[in-house]
Amino acid sequence: MRVLISENEIQKRIQELGRELSEKLPADILLVGILKGSFLFFADLVRTISGNPEIQFIQASSYGSATVSSGNVDLQISNKISFSGKHILIIEDIIDTGLTLDKILADIQKTSPASISICSLLIKKGDHKEKYPSLFYGFEIEDLFVVGYGLDYNEKYRTLRDIFILEST
Ligand code: IMP
Ligand code: MG
Repeated sequence: MRVLISENEIQKRIQELGRELSEKLPADILLVGILKGSFLFFADLVRTISGNPEIQFIQASSYGSATVSSGNVDLQISNKISFSGKHILIIEDIIDTGLTLDKILADIQKTSPASISICSLLIKKGDHKEKYPSLFYGFEIEDLFVVGYGLDYNEKYRTLRDIFILEST
C-alpha cells in the first residue's frame, strides 16, 4: 500500500477546516457523524470547532466487501434523535458516488431541520461541489480506493494513521 495523504497533512488540514467551520457555521450546531468511516475524522474535527455543539451519530453502510458502491444504502438513524429546527453539520469520511449522502440528506430533510451543511474529509472527483451547496471538504482525490484513518476495506485498515491507496483489489 502507498501513502496518499500522511497523518501530518490530515491533521494540518483539519485545523484549517475547524477554523473555517467555526467562522461560517452557527455556534449552536448539531454535529452528526456517519459511522463507521468518519469516527477518527469526527473525533479530531469536533475538537477544532468552537462553540458548544451537540453530537449525534448515524450508521450507514453500502459497500459490503466490494470497492464499488452497491447502490443499496442501509441507514440506521435512532428515532431518539431530533433534527427538527436545528442547524446540522453532517461529518463524512468520503463522498464517492454521493448515494449515501443523498439518502442521508433525504431522510434528515423530512424532519425539517433549520439547515444542513456537510463536511467530508475526502471527495472523489465529480460534480459534488456543484451538487451540494454547503459542502466543506479536506481533500479532493482521484477515483482511487483508499483506506486508513477510519476508512476500511472489508472492515480492515481503519486504525491506520495515514490514508493509503489500496492496490490490487
Ligand atoms: P458513496 O455512497 O458512493 O458516496 O460512498 C460513500 C461511502 O462509501 C463512504 O461513506 C465510505 O464509507 C465508503 N467509501 C467510498 N469510497 C471509499 C474508499 O475509497 N475507501 C473506503 N470507503 C469508501
Ligand atoms: Mg462512510
